[in-house]
Amino acid sequence: MDYFNRRHFLFASAAAAQAALAQQTGDRIRTAMIGTGNRGSYVLRGILEEPNARVVALCDIKPDRLDAAASSAAKDNPKTYTDWRRVIDNKEVDAVFIATPPHLHSEMAIAALKAGKHVYCEKPIGVTAGQVKELVQAAKGINRVFVAGQQLRSHQQLKEGVSKIHQGEIGELLMVKAQRHATADLNHEGSSADWYFDVTKSGGYLIEQSVHNLDVCNWVIGAHPTRATGFGGVQLYKNDPPGRTIMDNASLTFEYPSGLKLSFTQNVFHPAGMPCGGQYVHVFGSKASVDLLYAMNEYPLPKGEVKVIAEPRQEPRHAHTTAFYDCIINGAPNPADITVGATAALTSILGHEAMVRERIVSWNELGVEV
Ligand SMILES: NC(=O)c1ccc[n+]([C@@H]2O[C@H](COP(=O)([O-])OP(=O)(O)OC[C@H]3O[C@@H](n4cnc5c(N)ncnc54)[C@H](O)[C@@H]3O)[C@@H](O)[C@H]2O)c1
Repeated sequence: MDYFNRRHFLFASAAAAQAALAQQTGDRIRTAMIGTGNRGSYVLRGILEEPNARVVALCDIKPDRLDAAASSAAKDNPKTYTDWRRVIDNKEVDAVFIATPPHLHSEMAIAALKAGKHVYCEKPIGVTAGQVKELVQAAKGINRVFVAGQQLRSHQQLKEGVSKIHQGEIGELLMVKAQRHATADLNHEGSSADWYFDVTKSGGYLIEQSVHNLDVCNWVIGAHPTRATGFGGVQLYKNDPPGRTIMDNASLTFEYPSGLKLSFTQNVFHPAGMPCGGQYVHVFGSKASVDLLYAMNEYPLPKGEVKVIAEPRQEPRHAHTTAFYDCIINGAPNPADITVGATAALTSILGHEAMVRERIVSWNELGVEV
């Protein structure tokens, strides 16, 4: 049994035991949400739709957020907290969702796992290699489900597209070109403005947002990069908002074990309507290439009839939340376990470090075994 399958077996056994217990007692998974801002309140709506979940605790340091979440979860009558440690100490909580700013994730997730809770932790699971390392050490070998909020892993169309590529649909993978471009900076007055522009709290755009795109690249390539190089900086939003320490653009190259290169760019000044904006992941193969996000068109090499490799479908809005409960109750395969969450975060951190140090940075220098 290899490492991944052995871990899955352990999780599945623990989950099966928990499922049997839940069936005996008729209990639903008693769930807490720490951080009831934008994302937390959205995910909370998904939890409330879950037949196997009951929201027993909500936590936020901002009273208005907490009140709004408590109102939306009124049917479950949850307790409210401003101190997240009291949620962790609560023996009547089985599972914890963490949707606070990124720099708080690892400390909260480690405490929750150590207290015996199942954990759904928003991405990125850490903003430094040290944070990711500590969380990896806490999550590995523990009989609790840990799901990272890399919800693209639960996107059915993407799963089918990636699976076809893994089965050899486009031949040998040669190169990947991906980007995450936005038309403007994150709202300077918005709900996340008190942490987003501080690199020590969000990690910056590459770590906080592009972690999704880079995870898709790792997923389709089937590996994490071995090294990265590139540049980034602030070209438009200089000291805007005042005190800003995050970049507004990045141009990076990542190298993978096969020698394959991923070229990745991020910016927040791509005008709406200008071609080649938004997000894409173009996967180039020896037989054909695929526009993986989101068209799923396959283009034969050197030319030929274009076909769609995975048809769009009605994607359930809260599929990743459902998957979390499915792991706990039925021992279902984990779509985004600690290895996925850690490699996604570390790939972003690797790119960030290359830009900050202005040199090639190797994966080994991050000092984390995943
Ligand atoms: N998976 C996704 O697609 C997705 C989308 C958006 C955001 N996110 C992630 O979700 C997280 C939150 O982002 P957001 O947009 O909701 O930000 P937000 O600022 O709207 O919400 C964060 C909340 O955490 C609360 N908080 C801060 N410190 C706390 C503490 N010590 N204890 C309890 N609560 C605390 C804040 O008061 C705030 O209400 C981030 O990690 C972000 O990357 C993920």
